[in-house]
Amino acid sequence: MNNLPSHIAIIMDGNGRWAKAQGKNRTFGHEKGAETVRAITTYCSQHPQIKHLTLYAFSTENWKRPKLEVEFLMKLLERYFKKELPLYLENNIQFLPIGNLSSFSPSLQKTILNVCEATAHCTGLVQSLALNYGGKDEIIRAAQKLHEANISITETSLSQALDCTQEVDILIRTGGDHRISNFLLWQSAYAELFFTNTLWPEFKSDELEKILSKFQKVERRFGGLN
Ligand code: IPE
Ligand code: IPE
Ligand code: MG
Repeated sequence: MNNLPSHIAIIMDGNGRWAKAQGKNRTFGHEKGAETVRAITTYCSQHPQIKHLTLYAFSTENWKRPKLEVEFLMKLLERYFKKELPLYLENNIQFLPIGNLSSFSPSLQKTILNVCEATAHCTGLVQSLALNYGGKDEIIRAAQKLHEANISITETSLSQALDCTQEVDILIRTGGDHRISNFLLWQSAYAELFFTNTLWPEFKSDELEKILSKFQKVERRFGGLN
């Protein structure tokens, strides 16, 4: 496939509804969702034109969920990062988290940073999970960093101070809702948006391929004329 996006970002939504439809707890949907993360990450790592894959895993707003669900998600993240290092290493994938990790437990922070360090030498796909991530929070933290370093705020300096420094080419949301939910607000300024009713646990690489072939036909003008 030619003319693939360099940066794909995905709002992985619909885990809870998928589980409910199976008559199971919402947590079962999060478990299944982690499997989709593996499959989609592997698919992207096999297409060298795709340089970055950024997946929204936990938002700054998701702390509002019931305590038990939040606790389950924290444990799932810890398990995921402990188990999935081979996925990254075998596919030459570098892992780079985005978001404010300081709200997580020291043990989870350590597990996350361990995967970062262990994959720092990988030269293929850069996979980012957005963890305690909010687009507004990211912009505020970037502006504060520049202010503290006495660097003037320009489009370039602010872009580079963000957690995610890559413009998004294609933003996909599963789960049927048509909103951004505070994801990559700055970086998605010129992203092509795709929404699918498929719930995240059921999202497969053949659906991603269909979206990518639509993307390939889009004329991106970036405000100019073609
Ligand atoms: C997305 O699925 C995963 C997270 C936000 C952690 P949801 O948990 O939002 O599932 P729905 O949207 O309620 O079905
Ligand atoms: C967005 O999904 C956040 C993640 C996928 C991590 P939500 O389910 O939290 O979004 P809203 O509340 O429907 O906007
Ligand atoms: Mg949701």
